[in-house]
Amino acid sequence: MSLPTTGLPRAEVLARLNQLRAKDLAARGGRTFAYVYDPARPDIDELGHEVYASYLDVNGLDPTVFPSLLAMENDVVDITRRHLGSTTAVGSFTSGGTESIILAVKAARDRAGIERGQVVLPVTAHAAFQKACHYLGLEAVLVDVDPATFRAVPSLVAEAVTERTVLLVASAASYAHGVVDPVEEIAAIGLERGIPVHVDGCIGGWLLPYFRRLGVDVPAFDFRVPGVTSMSVDLHKYAYSPKGASVVLYDDAALRRKQFYACADWTGYTMINATVQSTKSGGPLAAAWAVLHAVGDDGYLELARQTLEATRRLVEGVAKVDGLRVLGEPEMALVAIASDSSDSAVDVFVLCDEMNARGWYVQPQLGYRGLPASMHLTLTASSDAVVDDLLVDLAVAVEAARGVTVGDASLLAAVQGLDPDSLGDDVLATLLPLAGIEPGEGLPERMAAINTLLEAMPMRLRERLLIEFLGLLFTPGDDADAR
Ligand SMILES: Cc1ncc(COP(=O)(O)O)c(C=O)c1O
Repeated sequence: MSLPTTGLPRAEVLARLNQLRAKDLAARGGRTFAYVYDPARPDIDELGHEVYASYLDVNGLDPTVFPSLLAMENDVVDITRRHLGSTTAVGSFTSGGTESIILAVKAARDRAGIERGQVVLPVTAHAAFQKACHYLGLEAVLVDVDPATFRAVPSLVAEAVTERTVLLVASAASYAHGVVDPVEEIAAIGLERGIPVHVDGCIGGWLLPYFRRLGVDVPAFDFRVPGVTSMSVDLHKYAYSPKGASVVLYDDAALRRKQFYACADWTGYTMINATVQSTKSGGPLAAAWAVLHAVGDDGYLELARQTLEATRRLVEGVAKVDGLRVLGEPEMALVAIASDSSDSAVDVFVLCDEMNARGWYVQPQLGYRGLPASMHLTLTASSDAVVDDLLVDLAVAVEAARGVTVGDASLLAAVQGLDPDSLGDDVLATLLPLAGIEPGEGLPERMAAINTLLEAMPMRLRERLLIEFLGLLFTPGDDADAR
């Protein structure tokens, strides 16, 4: 696509955008059970959008020249730390969970100051930690979790600690199964060995305190636990702020200092950055500040009550469906549904396709290290109004999926035997059409065969193929002009 020679009229630009959006998932309405967090409160959405837009042009690069941003960031950090059991922690507002995690890992790395440090990660810890290790020259040491509860096993974490360990990680809660790790035990290991412990509350940190107030048995997971040194909590998840809003917190200002970056050694302005981004819009911070104030504690409790109610109805409903089970006992509004081990006739990847075909977006999770494949649902306050309809469709979808198998056995066997490191990029590219992915065509509507093939592959091959796929997706084509 080339730049229009003459600027298009506003109406034309908006019409083209609307056309582009036609195939997007619905961000509101409750039928999308991943990626979006819907409070079912148009008033909150409107306020967030309005404030976001009003601060779009303000630059968070320098907190001294836009003091309103500085004041709002201090407010948001204060609100968040109090929510997580501390009146003394310090922190930063960041663009999202991944940035918060990268910064916490960097702080731990620089605190330790050792060569090629290690981060001990239960396999259920979010992939953002492995990304952080990758970016920061650290080694991720993965440890198995309990296969029945999907929680980290403290003894395995302790065994993985070495002289080079710079950080231990626990999740509250994990994304895939919605369970809270035994934070007290893991933090005790950190205390004893003098190693910082990060609790990833990106998805659970805001909601879990409300769930506890509503009677859910949520174990201790925040700064009240001795040994917890840093936490991440995303406001663009269950605090329902517009996207681009997270907070990273430290129990100690000395540790946060290791997060910061300053550079005076060049010709331009003296650069002091609290976070990864330098120039950054004030929109996400201002909107988060506004949404937190407008919803308030009572409002969040009510949103949590609706979310909990929906989650309970879903879990109870799934228990009644022949052939399905919920994995573990989630404390969060995150539910992983697997095929019942006594009845493997329901392939969850086929089930995901059947649900998608009925207008529900649910997310397939591939089997991994002996843990079963599952269908993931992130519930929000908006789920309350639709979960009964979802259960009706789920029962129908299960019958449609029952007995259906996908995947060519010889192809699956062939990919299992491939050595990812000996394959060139050109060979990898030829695997994509085998998986049903054709250049310029996007993803097929039914994904079960692709997921089955990916699941059969050695992990490194999965990763390389996905990168190949990403390259294919992000290739501008001439057809964009004709759109
Ligand atoms: C537990 C957990 N940590 C980290 C992240 C990463 O957050 P983000 O996608 O905002 O970077 C997520 C996202 O779902 C998460 O669930």
